[in-house]
Amino acid sequence: MGQKSRNKTKQSATSSYDFQHEVIIVGAGLAGLFTALKLSPLPTTIIAAKSLGSGTSSHWAQGGIAAAIGEGDKPETHATDTINVGAGLVDENIAHLVTKEANDRIEDLLKYGVPFDKDLEGKLQLSKEAAHSTRRIVRVEGDRAGAAIMAALIETVKNTPSIRIIEQVEVHKLAKKDRSIEGVYIWPSAAKGTGEGTILKGKKVILATGGCGYLFSKTTNPNMARGEGIAMAAQIGAVISDPEFIQFHPTAIDAELDPAPLATEALRGEGAHLVNKKGERFMVDIHESAELAPRDIVARAVDRELKSGRGAYLDCVNTIGRAMKDHFPTVVKKCKEAGIDPLKEPIPIAPAAHFQMGGIVTDANGRSTIDGLWACGEVASTGLHGGNRLASNSLLEAVVFANRIAADIHNQASRRPQEATSINIDNEQTISPKLDEKLNKSIKAIREMMFQNVGVERDKKGLEEAKKFLKDLEPEILESEKAKNMCLTAKFILTGAINRLESRGSHYRTDKTEKIKTAKRTYLKLDDIENEFNKS
Ligand code: SIN
Repeated sequence: MGQKSRNKTKQSATSSYDFQHEVIIVGAGLAGLFTALKLSPLPTTIIAAKSLGSGTSSHWAQGGIAAAIGEGDKPETHATDTINVGAGLVDENIAHLVTKEANDRIEDLLKYGVPFDKDLEGKLQLSKEAAHSTRRIVRVEGDRAGAAIMAALIETVKNTPSIRIIEQVEVHKLAKKDRSIEGVYIWPSAAKGTGEGTILKGKKVILATGGCGYLFSKTTNPNMARGEGIAMAAQIGAVISDPEFIQFHPTAIDAELDPAPLATEALRGEGAHLVNKKGERFMVDIHESAELAPRDIVARAVDRELKSGRGAYLDCVNTIGRAMKDHFPTVVKKCKEAGIDPLKEPIPIAPAAHFQMGGIVTDANGRSTIDGLWACGEVASTGLHGGNRLASNSLLEAVVFANRIAADIHNQASRRPQEATSINIDNEQTISPKLDEKLNKSIKAIREMMFQNVGVERDKKGLEEAKKFLKDLEPEILESEKAKNMCLTAKFILTGAINRLESRGSHYRTDKTEKIKTAKRTYLKLDDIENEFNKS
């Protein structure tokens, strides 16, 4: 299908969908776009909530992609680092598979036009991030990896005739018939899932909807990272795993901005120090790797400095200095926008929800437990991250599984070419202002409650309060499928946290500080959530 038909898709104004799509991809971050490119020439429709690629976490990524391509580095070492940091819950086969395929996927990205930083000999330059045993992160202009990767892929997708793009449209519900997926229900983004959705039929659906950081009031994620993918999949019976493992990034810039801009971990890789108000490096006494300790440990240390009133800052002045401008232009820009000059003063920081380790359970081909439904990227739980993700493994996971999912679908797809019909949507449909106001207020309250009670540190009392809060929500807000999904995913996170009676990785309970030796991954279905919330 050519550009002409895609434009028509964006502009049409009535409601009729009759095209049996070969493949539907929900979400237009790195996972969605890379899968679509790998599926080509199979007819594929990408559904994007905004304009293609904008507002996605991938676009905001600063660090880069981890890949064992440096001299002396090996995929096995990368896998070992991934397993060591994952708090005993990493699926080791998956860690080996992902790290082994990293090099080929970086080659793909180079072919798609991603301008990774190279040295004078033309070799890829590599950054260092926490808990990696060596320099291993491919990057673009220091801290512009996400934006640059997305720009290259968007351009390539737009020039790929087999890919149809539907923009400003959201999916809030999946359709299932018997045991298999039947399609997705779509709404114009402005409707926020109120009123009638329209079914878009498709026998193969890939959820690439990203994470759930926006369920927390302090987050580095865009407001589209609402965790809806988990709720949608669970409602048609999919198994969800490890939802309680939410990674808090230790160095979000603390400037009362929502979402909070990130100060990339690569700054610490280049020597930046974490200090308190007195200028003391508080990580030195906590972990032998100091600032480069695993992310959960650093996040808790920053949280405690803040709660104790000692303050927490990232000092780049006396470490990276003027090189900040050339090597970390995004961080410098974000600081300046927040009224901070990182060349002259330490950056105030706080932990913020950044990544969800769990999600929709998938196998090595990205298949969920529902026939015809795949999940890719942050929404999926492949087993790679365990209880604590290794920095810059997320973009890698997205491209490795995008490639595997596409290969799986190519193996199954009918060879019969399909005619593309025009797609029309009722762009006029919007939420009523009264319900919108109520919804915004409730979502704000949910996000604050989640950060306070299900945040960096948790305990039974706080988790029970959160449960009561979610139980008592005004039923009216559930008129919006979007809000309903957000609440359901929050309930999954909470149920996982209530039932994990230990501290492990990013799940830290002040009332259960030890690890249980026999602890395993969490697996939950919709019934388990209903049972937990029906208990008195
Ligand atoms: C960062 O740049 O610090 C984030 C990298 C990541 O979350 O993997």
